[in-house]
Amino acid sequence: MEKIVGIDDIATYVPKIYLDAEEMANARGIPPGKLTKGLGIEKLSIPDAHEDAATMAAMAALKLMEKNDLQPKDVDFIHVATETGPDASKPISCYVQGMLEQIYGKGSFDHVGAPETKFACVGATYAMIDRLAYIASGWNRAPCAIVVATDIARYELNSSGEPTQGAAAIALLLKENPRLLVYEPKFTGFGTVDDRDFFRPVERKTAVVDGQYSIACYLRDMRIAVDAYKKNMINAGVLKSGQDSLVDKLGLASFHSPFPKMVQYAFADFLAHDWRNLPRWKTISRKIGPEPSREGMTDVEYYVSDDHKNFRRKFTKTEEFIKEYEEKIADSLTALRIIGNSYTASVWLGVASHLETRRDDLTGKRLGIGSYGSGSSAIVCSFIVQPEYKEVAKGIKLMKNLAERQRISMDVYEDLHEGRRQLNESVIPPKNEFALVNLGTQSHDHGYRYYRYIK
Ligand code: HMG
Repeated sequence: MEKIVGIDDIATYVPKIYLDAEEMANARGIPPGKLTKGLGIEKLSIPDAHEDAATMAAMAALKLMEKNDLQPKDVDFIHVATETGPDASKPISCYVQGMLEQIYGKGSFDHVGAPETKFACVGATYAMIDRLAYIASGWNRAPCAIVVATDIARYELNSSGEPTQGAAAIALLLKENPRLLVYEPKFTGFGTVDDRDFFRPVERKTAVVDGQYSIACYLRDMRIAVDAYKKNMINAGVLKSGQDSLVDKLGLASFHSPFPKMVQYAFADFLAHDWRNLPRWKTISRKIGPEPSREGMTDVEYYVSDDHKNFRRKFTKTEEFIKEYEEKIADSLTALRIIGNSYTASVWLGVASHLETRRDDLTGKRLGIGSYGSGSSAIVCSFIVQPEYKEVAKGIKLMKNLAERQRISMDVYEDLHEGRRQLNESVIPPKNEFALVNLGTQSHDHGYRYYRYIK
């Protein structure tokens, strides 16, 4: 018999400081409405001087251990996904292992496997599938695995990507018979294309991005993955080809959110693709006219074209779109609007946001995941929400942590961005948390990172 596996609990970590999007807009001479309404960003989560992707990952993992009363022997993998790891060789997962041993004792975690997965923002979804498959196979020697997604999204000052920065980590507790979400492995669809929309050569601290082009790559890969997911559902007899709508089978969904408006773009194209050959599309076409032709265009050329964007804008104003968006997507963005992009963590923070903020009973609903990573690859997969989710979700407290943050000024933000503050010059000095305290300077440890739990 196939094992039932999935996500048993979630713990999040967000830095304690943020930058207000309107303040950034004013400083950069951009109309604030472009950021708050046009892109959907209200606040950007900013890492303090003592923080990096490893400290954020360790904080999320520690929270997950503590709130579930887990002991090291209960865990056989600490698997981290990131694209902003500080070292080209040593994985963050191993730094996290060391940080957790500062709490649980030297040698307490020496039995774990600790790989790191990299594939831009889609890395954590790949890591999660690997770990769930391992548990489902019965090869695991402990009941739980932890997957942590952790990232700092950073672009050049004054660039068009700057407002889409952010930082956060999220830890997923994976096991058999989970209390939150049961994975549906048979439907999972992938879409991968070797592309250059966004990348960060090892010598750079900020990403190189072709903004509008990257949006088109996201939409293209997502469509390929959706088609694969749909085909798998049809083969499994869950969906009737040409008759059923895939979105009708979903109760809620979370998409990767580089900025919240991107999720609206993705969901609009997803709905149009899903509904195009169904009777309901005729009603919509009567209201907003036919879809523009894509003849002679590549997918990317079509997605960046003004005709497509204008049509999508009209579609997102229809009552049919608004109903689906409000019902299935909007709550995933409540937290993401005030975090910004957190790369690998983003789509999973959207899940946390849904579970924490939705007031209706989600039990038994199908949760769709649309995960995208530049470079490029999309994964579309799904879970079924479990009856015990409400109790577990109460302990996530992401919204509470976000509400407790302190606002920083543009000057402080720029100093942090440019590394002009020393490790011991944090805006909020570390307390009860892991901190990067030193960088090696000797020939044997040049650039090595030393972390300490500060009480
Ligand atoms: P842009 O090109 O300057 O923005 O930067 P725009 O001109 O496309 O405008 C955005 C929206 O604001 C539009 O809305 C405008 O109309 C509206 P729409 O019409 O499309 O609905 N607007 C306004 N609204 C109200 N008041 C105003 C106003 N002015 C304009 N005054 C861009 C946007 C995303 C390109 C830029 O921020 C960027 O380069 N960001 C980084 C790249 C990125 O986030 N790409 C997303 C897809 S790739 C991805 O998700 C992967 C990634 O996470 C990395 C990874 O995988 O590792 C990035």
